[in-house]
Amino acid sequence: MKNLIDIMQMSTEELQELVDRAMDIIANPAKYADACRGKKLATLFFEPSTRTRLSFEAAMYELGGNVIGFSEANSSSAAKGESVADTVRTVGCYADIIAMRHPKEGAPLVATRTAGVPVVNAGDGGHNHPTQTLADLLTIYREKGTFENLTVGLCGDLKFGRTVHSLISAMSRYKGVKFVLISPEELKVPRYIITDILEKNGIPFEEVTSLEDAMPQLDILYMTRVQRERFFNEADYMRLKDTYILTPEKLRNAKDDLAILHPLPRVNEISVAVDDDPRACYFKQVLNGKYMRMALILKLLEVNV
Ligand code: CP
Repeated sequence: MKNLIDIMQMSTEELQELVDRAMDIIANPAKYADACRGKKLATLFFEPSTRTRLSFEAAMYELGGNVIGFSEANSSSAAKGESVADTVRTVGCYADIIAMRHPKEGAPLVATRTAGVPVVNAGDGGHNHPTQTLADLLTIYREKGTFENLTVGLCGDLKFGRTVHSLISAMSRYKGVKFVLISPEELKVPRYIITDILEKNGIPFEEVTSLEDAMPQLDILYMTRVQRERFFNEADYMRLKDTYILTPEKLRNAKDDLAILHPLPRVNEISVAVDDDPRACYFKQVLNGKYMRMALILKLLEVNV
């Protein structure tokens, strides 16, 4: 694997290899402290980010490497009209690996053609966010000890939610997984996810609108934000933004070992009163993202530890 653009590029064995590597990093951080000495990561963020950019940067620093990059398009020559292809060709002269977020779907794939170094998709429009999925997978693995025989509820904006699309793709390969897709009519999962992934592979799923009704059967609840930046119409955003708000009351019928995930940032969709519930895993998920990005950097740079 030279780049990571879509989580489906990775085999089940490769995903497990990254999970195992991340678990070893957690257990033995000192072993990895110099693994990327002399290497540079470039973070090219054409869209805002807190977790993805900073966890990539923390990951590289904890591996002993260095970081260059920009956190908004306006501070790069993209503001003067430079193409993605030329930008990454330039950055590839300075860095050993690139993590790139871009509002246009497919931009990181375009980048792989001219970068000359590994490119990681750090989120492209409403399309994919494979390293968030790596964080999600490690969180599920640490909470449940398995990826199999789980009922996974995904709730909120399932239409534009790139983390949702990547997580469904990744989890659909495991035995006994069932999806409960909880959304308003306007924000349902795109049709290609239903036909090309779920129906094609015979994976059980249901599409529902009530979070409360779905709750008792869930092992994982993956909440998502309704993303203002993806709407063309402010009135539609205002109407839909608070459709689902997870509160302690709504968890009354949930399993005792439910794991609540959210890629963050959140706005209103999880009440802060839920944060103290032992089933709330979304800040553990943030930390897991750093470990999985460390494991991914090692793999793409072919560093053996
Ligand atoms: N989960 C996630 O992608 O967060 P950021 O937008 O802060 O990177």
